[in-house]
Amino acid sequence: MAKKILILNGPNLNLLGSRQPDVYGSLTLDDIKANCLERAKKLDLEIDFRQSNHEGELISWIQQCQPPHFHGLVINPAAYSHTSIGIPDALSAMELPKVEVHISNIFARESFRHHSYVSPVATGIICGFGPAGYLLALNAIVELI
Ligand code: DQA
Repeated sequence: MAKKILILNGPNLNLLGSRQPDVYGSLTLDDIKANCLERAKKLDLEIDFRQSNHEGELISWIQQCQPPHFHGLVINPAAYSHTSIGIPDALSAMELPKVEVHISNIFARESFRHHSYVSPVATGIICGFGPAGYLLALNAIVELI
C-alpha cells in the first residue's frame, strides 16, 4: 500500500504566484500541489496537501500526523519558522520523518530569517531550491520511510 505523506504550508503561502515572485517564483500553491501529486505518483506515495494561516491549525494537523494514517511530514512553516515554539513542540512529539522546506534561501535573506525554531527538530532541511524544494523533500522522505 502507498505510504501517505502530509504536506503542510504555513501563513501567506496561499499567496504564492503573486507574492514577491522575485523571491518565491511565479508558481501558485495549486501549481506546487499539482507538481507534488505528479511526483508522489512516480514515488508511489499518497499525499495530503494543506495550507493554513493559523498556527493552532498547523499544530493540530501535526498532531494528526501519526501512523497508521501518515508515514511522514513535509512542512514549510513559512514565517512561523522564525517565531513559533508550538510548532517545534508538536514536531518533537511526532516520531515520523519530517522535512522542513523553504522555497527561498533563508540564509541569504534578512537576518531574522536565519534562525528557524523548526530546524533543530526536523529530520532534514531543504531550502533555496524554489518550489522544486517540495519535490526534493518527497524524494528525501521516500528514503526515510
Ligand atoms: C519561506 C521563508 C520564510 O522566511 C517566509 O516567512 C515565508 C516563506 C520560504 O518558503 O522561503 O513565508 O518559508
